[in-house]
Amino acid sequence: MREPCAIVRDTLAYVGSKIRPGVTTKELDEYAEKYIRSRGAIPSELGYCGYPASICASVNEVVVHGIPGDRVIRDGDIVSIDLCAYKNGFHGDGARTFMVGNVSEDKKKLVRVTEECFFKAIENLRAGTPLYDIGARVQKHAEENGFSVVRALVGHGIGREMHEDPSVPNFGKAGTGIRLKAGMVICIEPMINMGGYQVDFLDDGWTVKTRDGKPAAHYENTVVIREDGVEILTI
Ligand code: MF3
Ligand code: CO
Repeated sequence: MREPCAIVRDTLAYVGSKIRPGVTTKELDEYAEKYIRSRGAIPSELGYCGYPASICASVNEVVVHGIPGDRVIRDGDIVSIDLCAYKNGFHGDGARTFMVGNVSEDKKKLVRVTEECFFKAIENLRAGTPLYDIGARVQKHAEENGFSVVRALVGHGIGREMHEDPSVPNFGKAGTGIRLKAGMVICIEPMINMGGYQVDFLDDGWTVKTRDGKPAAHYENTVVIREDGVEILTI
């Protein structure tokens, strides 16, 4: 899985380098698809349950699964890019939220805290840790900072399929859930809202927006559980 995950990491950085005011999310999708294919991988979001693009590009109040299209990126936007690559019979999955130009202080804090939620989640994570410790740590850090955790979408196992067991919520009670085992590969992906946790699913079948229209951020890595910690594959 190292190879598809490295391709995810590199594609995220490459797409990030293309984000500037005036670019459309469709153009970002084209950059990503070309790049992933140039590395001999398949953009595995394309066609997944009928999904029509190679990346999810979610701007401001869009939490996740924004379908690339004619939306023009503007100064002050935050743009979450989520993508998967398939190679060697396995998937990699990762997401970053990019800040465009002059971003407000509260959006900067949202993006920073969302990334911190991931790193809080993997602190002392190892074989034997109860699964819902992950969500408990994410939720604690998000809520301590005045933000809220999306409940309607969760992280997941990953391997030969993009989404495998177990579900990995970003909320929950510490000390509960199955015990993680060495060798498990999971995607930890905090989705954090500046306002309330409620989201709406749009009629296009994909786009998830915050109900209150306030911004959201997303950060995701594929990680392997080891006896003594975790190995992050998409950084
Ligand atoms: N990559 C997403 C995840 O983090 C899944 C997106 S499904 C898609 O799990 F079809 F919208 F691409
Ligand atoms: Co994922």
